[in-house]
Amino acid sequence: MSATAAESRVPSDQAGDRYAPAGIESRYRPPRATIDPDRSLSWLRRARPVVLAHKRTLLTALILSFTGLVLQVQIPKLLNDAVTNSLQRATVPLSHYVWLVLVLAVAAGIAAYVARLFLLRTAYAMEFDLRNIIYEHLTRMSFGFYDRVQSGQLISRANSDIRSVQMYLTFAPAILVQCAVALVAFGYMLSINVPLAFVAMSTTPLVYFSSVRMRKSIFPVSWLIQSRLADVATIVDENINGVRVVKSFVAEPREVRTLARAADRLKWAYVQDADIRARFTPTVQNLPQLGLALILLFGGYLVIHGHLQVGAILAFSAYITMLQPPFQLLGMLIMLGQRAKASAGRIYEILDEAPTVLDRPGAIDLASCEGDVSFESVDFDYADGPAILSDFSLHLTPGETVAMVGRTASGKTTVSRLLPRFYDVTGGAVKVDGRDVRDLTLASLREQIGVVLDEPFLFTASIRDNIAYGRPGADIAEVQAAARAAGAEEFILELPHGFDTVVGERGYTLSGGQRQRVAIARTLLVNPPILILDDATSAVDVQVEQGIHEGLRVLMEGRTTLIVAHRLSTIGLADRVVLLDGGRIVADGTHAELLATTPLYVEVLAQVEEAEHQAREEPTRR
Ligand SMILES: Nc1ncnc2c1ncn2[C@@H]1O[C@H](COP(=O)(O)OP(=O)(O)OP(=O)(O)O)[C@@H](O)[C@H]1O
Ligand SMILES: [Mg+2]
Repeated sequence: MSATAAESRVPSDQAGDRYAPAGIESRYRPPRATIDPDRSLSWLRRARPVVLAHKRTLLTALILSFTGLVLQVQIPKLLNDAVTNSLQRATVPLSHYVWLVLVLAVAAGIAAYVARLFLLRTAYAMEFDLRNIIYEHLTRMSFGFYDRVQSGQLISRANSDIRSVQMYLTFAPAILVQCAVALVAFGYMLSINVPLAFVAMSTTPLVYFSSVRMRKSIFPVSWLIQSRLADVATIVDENINGVRVVKSFVAEPREVRTLARAADRLKWAYVQDADIRARFTPTVQNLPQLGLALILLFGGYLVIHGHLQVGAILAFSAYITMLQPPFQLLGMLIMLGQRAKASAGRIYEILDEAPTVLDRPGAIDLASCEGDVSFESVDFDYADGPAILSDFSLHLTPGETVAMVGRTASGKTTVSRLLPRFYDVTGGAVKVDGRDVRDLTLASLREQIGVVLDEPFLFTASIRDNIAYGRPGADIAEVQAAARAAGAEEFILELPHGFDTVVGERGYTLSGGQRQRVAIARTLLVNPPILILDDATSAVDVQVEQGIHEGLRVLMEGRTTLIVAHRLSTIGLADRVVLLDGGRIVADGTHAELLATTPLYVEVLAQVEEAEHQAREEPTRR
């Protein structure tokens, strides 16, 4: 059990480890190249560094594919020679040609095999790089970005867009190579008979144009299919994630109808797609037969009048079937290009968005932290929205515990987000040990601050790995100690596998209070000098809360702690209480002082008390 939380979360499929890379420790390798940041370039030019990073395998694939195809092109010519020299004139033994054809076919086969292997390797390596480039970028993006984007859309879009860009970047050169070989074949045909070569090639423009027509009609429909697939996926996703809401409102029939409607629209698009394909495919596939008929007609005429050997007809018929696929693919290439361009646009849209909260050049590490925290005339709003905080000032001396109280939506959670720089202030400054947090490196700042959010998120992993998330190397004794301090050890030991019990997705197999205690243990294990607890005990009943408080009281000693508090009992943990209203601190003192001097404080507490009371009256609601 030495795997860290992150590693043990790599999903294992049915095949298990049998199909994992043998003997290779899977680890993160940074992408070899990134997208060119110059936005004025075309999408292809911007993608060039990623392609160039794989130029060796890609070039190998292309050269081998070219070689294989050129070898293949020899075969019809040999057929012509064989018929003429061995069958008609009997000057060369037939076995000579048979062997040559066999050797060529085997060599072409081997070249094609290796070429394909290298081409697909390049494709998947590029896909891997693109995925890492995007993911790395996403991890650097600030909270403001995630407030705006829809995560489900982001993930599915990234997947299909990466695929279509990757396809174009690798298959476009491969298709172009095939077309180049077609030219070589045309050269051979010219060397046999010039007029017949032109007659034979006369149908290829038709092949090209009908394939373009087909792709043109299919293209909009395939977009429709993509977006309708996404619609269906979104409905399914919301129904699974929101199953508790759906069921409690007995909305299953309505949801099933919604899904059926979306599925029906998807089916319609699929049928359209099938219809277009059914109409065009026979045309595209049968055009070569038309070419064959022309060859037979014109070539036959030439043979009858003694201008051409019979073998040439054989060779031409082989060439004509060999030449169709490149032209069909060429038609496809144009559509692939359009799709890849649109996909690349969406990928670049993400990559071009710079994170707003960044290390300043010359930012220093916060090495040893005293725990002196001050908010100095802080102004803040979310993305140019209304002002949430204005002229907010608060000072916490090292080791002090301050409870922050305020009406709902008064900005308490917002204050706690500014200290670890989840967002940057719009005015004033937040300082730790007298240093502006924007002058410190993000990593060193966040290492010193433990945050327990009101909605704790757990990973699908064992409780032990969840608690050790911030310190993957922690041994079991430390994990147990943290769990004990958070009042979580007791219930964990009652679980079927104790600390090794895997909690369901987002920890839903635990109760809200249990989840919170695991989250508190997770933060305590990191042992940060500054602690932020946002309503961290709201979902915990009063008795359990006392247990946690005992643990917290010990742990808060010597630690600067900011608690967003609703309950009197939580306020009791604090040395000092501040009241937040209208974006600033309106009262500051001990609980008793505030009770005596500030009517608003009494009012806010009374409201909370009432809400709690109601919750107790209706226990089934909770
Ligand atoms: N990510 C966000 N983007 C935009 N606005 C936000 C965001 N988070 C909060 N707000 C807004 O900021 C205001 C303050 O919210 P905040 O969560 O800080 O309140 P709070 O005091 O913690 O409330 P509660 O006691 O209900 O938890 C609210 O009006 C809210 O709508
Ligand atoms: Mg809040």
